[in-house]
Amino acid sequence: SGGLATGCDAGTDPDTDPTGGPRGDLRFPTGFGWGAATSAYQVEGATKEDGRGESVWDTFSRTPGRTRNGDTGDIAADHYHRYADDLDLMRDLGLRSYRFSISWPRIQPDGTGTPNQRGLDFYRRLVDGLHERGISPMATLFHWDLPQTLQDAGGWENRDTAYRFAEYAEVLFRGLGDRVPVWLTINEPKTVVQNGYLHGHHAPGFQDPQAAYLVAHHLQLAHGLAVETLRATDSTARIGPALNLHPCYPADDSAEAASASHLYDGYENRLYLDSILKGSYPADVLADLGPGSRMARGIRDGDLKTISAPIDLLAVQYYTPYYLTATGDTVTRWPTSQADWQQIYPDGMYDILTRVTRDYGPIPLTVTENGLPQADTLSPDGTVDDSGRISFLRDHMAAAHRAVTDGVPLESYHVWSLLDNFEWAEGYDQRWGLVYVDYATQRRVPKRSALWYREVIRANGL
Ligand code: NOJ
Repeated sequence: SGGLATGCDAGTDPDTDPTGGPRGDLRFPTGFGWGAATSAYQVEGATKEDGRGESVWDTFSRTPGRTRNGDTGDIAADHYHRYADDLDLMRDLGLRSYRFSISWPRIQPDGTGTPNQRGLDFYRRLVDGLHERGISPMATLFHWDLPQTLQDAGGWENRDTAYRFAEYAEVLFRGLGDRVPVWLTINEPKTVVQNGYLHGHHAPGFQDPQAAYLVAHHLQLAHGLAVETLRATDSTARIGPALNLHPCYPADDSAEAASASHLYDGYENRLYLDSILKGSYPADVLADLGPGSRMARGIRDGDLKTISAPIDLLAVQYYTPYYLTATGDTVTRWPTSQADWQQIYPDGMYDILTRVTRDYGPIPLTVTENGLPQADTLSPDGTVDDSGRISFLRDHMAAAHRAVTDGVPLESYHVWSLLDNFEWAEGYDQRWGLVYVDYATQRRVPKRSALWYREVIRANGL
């Protein structure tokens, strides 16, 4: 595994070497979509306003012991009230693309039936405000805030939820379809499977492997049904899934480590990629789950045809690699960020982008998330020095650029996140934003990384 020894230079000092080379060295294609991302429950707050229903994250975060410091998204970054100022902030940073998510319980408070006009109006104002500022909207249909009523009816273990999702998607395609050029279906189905149903660290907080993989199938089915629903309208918008992909490497040269990393890759990547892009689940994963698994029993004729309905683009979210030992354990190879699960390995960005293109063909790609958390602080002079984030972003952008040079059809890149926000079970402890949020006052302060990113966008490269 000689390829593992290269590329991690996160220690470079951005003061002396702000771009990893003279500015202009690494030019991105003309019109490249530089952006930033957020999600509804993480930034909006206003959980009880304008007819919004409850979601599984309201329930989960209000349950004692589930989130750090008992934090909830009740106020978050108050974006629901401050969206107009946030739009101005995006314009000032020069963003060309903004990826946000739509809160299902704002649109259908009980997850079904007549849409709530006040919910739709909020996203209309947001989307119109983006267009007015020359920023392209990219809307995620589902970023984990499932209406609680649907959870009470079995949530994603219930096949019916996939059909409810398609109806919800249709409401949005009809209500906003002409103004949103790119739709993303389900954000990180794998995280729902693993965190929501295997480890239980996320809503709904179960630890049930049999349920987990049935949920995986229903999330994939929901994705496919939404794609078919868009095609049935006369919309010219594009659509695709948003998958968090993790390059998996053997930790040593043994055959056992190689096979452990291959199976791990099946669970981390191929389960989602193969079903959508090849129309089949990976045989090794199905065999590992066993023929009697709830997932295997839940797959019906025609499901994989729906799941593999042709997509227009694939959204990739990259944070960390995994290294597998001969015994199938994961080990840490590189320095971690404030998030103990995140190893800083920029070459992983190159590896995952080139691998997707190699294995699945030249499908247009967008990076919809990449970033790191830090315990950023506001200094007395009113600045936030997050030079570690600048190094991280620079190195990952350079890796993405290398992939583009090698022929990967990457069209845009979004930093996670625009704003500091509610980091799920970690609450507000981890700050992921380009822009600092002073939660006491809700004042926004662009960090040094935001000012740096503005220059990257201006130069269309590093
Ligand atoms: C992935 C998720 O989509 C997002 O909601 C989360 O905040 C980031 N990763 C960071 O963990």
